[in-house]
Amino acid sequence: MSTKFFSALSIILAVCACCPKTGKPVYLDPSKPLEERVEDALSRMTMEEKLAMTHAQSKFSSAGVPRLGIPELWHTDGPHGIRPEVLWDEWDQAGWTNDSCTAFPALVNLAATWDRDLSLLYGNCIGEEARYREKDILLGPGINMGRTPLNGRTFEYMGEDPYLAGQLVVPYVKGVQTNGVAACVKHYAVNNQEVRRTATSSNLDDRTLYEIYLPAFKAAVVEGGAWAIMGSYNLYNNQFNCHNKRLLCDILKGEWGFDGVVISDWGGCRDDDEAVTNGLDIEMGTWTNGLRGAASDSYSNYHLANPYLERLRDGRATQEVLDDKARRILRTVFRTSMSPEQHFGSFNSPEHYAAARKIAAQGIVLLKNDGALPLNVPDGGKILVVGENAYKMMVVGGGSSNLKTKYEVIPLDALREAFDGKADVVWERGYVGDVTTDYNKVVTGQDLSESRSADQLMADAVASAADADIVLYIGGLNKSKNQDNEGTDREDIVLPYGQDRLIEALAATGKKMVVVNISGSPVAMPWADKVNAIVQGWYGGSESGHALVDVLTGAVNPSGKLPFTMPLALADGPLKTERQYPGIQEEGKDWWQEYYDEGVFIGYRWYSSKGIPVCYPFGHGLSYTTFDIADARVKRSGNGFKVMATLKNTGSVAGAEVVQLYVSDVEASVERPVKELKGFEKVYLEPGQSRKVEFTLDRQALSFFDAEKHAWVAEPGEFHALLGTSSEDIKADLTFTL
Ligand code: BGC
Repeated sequence: MSTKFFSALSIILAVCACCPKTGKPVYLDPSKPLEERVEDALSRMTMEEKLAMTHAQSKFSSAGVPRLGIPELWHTDGPHGIRPEVLWDEWDQAGWTNDSCTAFPALVNLAATWDRDLSLLYGNCIGEEARYREKDILLGPGINMGRTPLNGRTFEYMGEDPYLAGQLVVPYVKGVQTNGVAACVKHYAVNNQEVRRTATSSNLDDRTLYEIYLPAFKAAVVEGGAWAIMGSYNLYNNQFNCHNKRLLCDILKGEWGFDGVVISDWGGCRDDDEAVTNGLDIEMGTWTNGLRGAASDSYSNYHLANPYLERLRDGRATQEVLDDKARRILRTVFRTSMSPEQHFGSFNSPEHYAAARKIAAQGIVLLKNDGALPLNVPDGGKILVVGENAYKMMVVGGGSSNLKTKYEVIPLDALREAFDGKADVVWERGYVGDVTTDYNKVVTGQDLSESRSADQLMADAVASAADADIVLYIGGLNKSKNQDNEGTDREDIVLPYGQDRLIEALAATGKKMVVVNISGSPVAMPWADKVNAIVQGWYGGSESGHALVDVLTGAVNPSGKLPFTMPLALADGPLKTERQYPGIQEEGKDWWQEYYDEGVFIGYRWYSSKGIPVCYPFGHGLSYTTFDIADARVKRSGNGFKVMATLKNTGSVAGAEVVQLYVSDVEASVERPVKELKGFEKVYLEPGQSRKVEFTLDRQALSFFDAEKHAWVAEPGEFHALLGTSSEDIKADLTFTL
């Protein structure tokens, strides 16, 4: 048949594909169903156009189809605020003056709220900021499990429990996506350390994979409807995760039916063939294919660029697989910038700062209090504040989550504001931690230089305590190397910069003392018995100082709960050998090997099952009021059980408590943790007020993952429903039989 025939046919097909009323092609008609738009656009695209969409064209964008008016996809970090603009092909800031965002609290702070509504609020606000900045894909949230407290990115994740992270990731994703912005959930999967993160294979059994490391991702995809997933840098079973067949093709796209787009972590794609066949849709990153600098036109060297084109041309790669990738990318475009609903977003709004303050405050955890809090300082008294974290800006640093914010309220300023005219707020630095003030050209403007010796700094702080009414220590970690920082892990959980010695010296003055630990991961607190109160603060974002002071003064009654265990010492944890962490080299293997020999026993699953004492348990957090859990009952309901109780605020101030439901399987054919979180409810009550809480336990909640059957199995027998206010503070123990 002649070419004329084909061109006539293609015009007829194109006309048929147009919307009869408007004459618009279907893919441009937002009233048409998504899949029709996708198929229509796909049918108009050349092979080269499809291929161009599958890899980066700049640091943070991938191509659209200019000929068809299909826009590029713009990606942005994530996950705590919208990253400042960078140059087209450099990590350095572009130097814009209108890209300072609202910095929201770190995700670990959000997790500590144990509040689904706040997670929705967070997602919605950050989604609005992304949309305003014309970003289509937000690189977050991160939900890797806290396998070791040393992981440098613990602050970017949601704690050590798959149920908690799963419950909180779903509203975050939904909130982001209502703004026509795709949440790109990361880093999929079993990516639990920064040490040798691009060269270590995580090796684990299926039960551990399915019970601990996958559930939050599954929830994000199946319940949250996430539109994007980021493959992680590491390998799983010796195949890189950005093109790991089992994780991406079999589980994510197979078992969970994910219809969105898989994006590589930046530079995480490592193999020409696997990149094509194993489920990756967009390759992002830098200097792929062995390039060590931004060679001109380096993007055509990407695995999914020229090497892919060659494979398509010589038949090693199929059109069908390319179409699948293109469909997923088109779906993402139609869900975001070409979505039927117009979204304009908003940026730096007062509402966003208010949300940031609220979330930050609600996640602050009161670990200990003998009455020193809320602060009660005599008129004209002196509050001695000691510690670098009272002063140092923390929105910056930490790696790719580094932000440039319009303002950041530091704790010291917030204290001075709160006690203006009432008490003297005096600051002593006490120690020198990190003096950096420039992060990829985001400059804080602070002067952190210091000429005093460590001994002098300590002596000055101790001397100043003499006439203080209270000593408020604000220290902890920061976001520099080997702290809470991408690319490096911590070396221990001991506080750095000699802070333990300083805290002990201040406690020895006999003054009333409150310690605020600002960190994104667990720290050891050997001085816990010697101070009057301990507060776990986090990287709280733009409003962190206000949020902290809200809690210290009692303007906000604390209700945060630890999303991870605070151990006494690193050595108490489940990772005992090098093969568990940070991995070993084995003959004949290209990559470092790491074995999850501890199985499902991480976090409180480990400590409570082995009876190892901890400093503060998972789920712990006090209030300025008191609560009582009464009338706890369990009853059969359909295929499962209902657990009920009444929560009462028995104190004199309003506040919220998180009622936590743990399940214990008394006798099982596999070794199970003595308790696992299966429900929680955060309840706000006025003094004297009561409310019923009710949980449903379905069969899934009672099951373990049977690797041989590749199925969840609930074995008949006795179970316990444990209702409490932390994983160790169990108020009611109810027995039931399946
Ligand atoms: C990080 C990702 C981040 C990406 C882009 C990578 O190094 O692992 O979390 O989204 O860079 O900045």
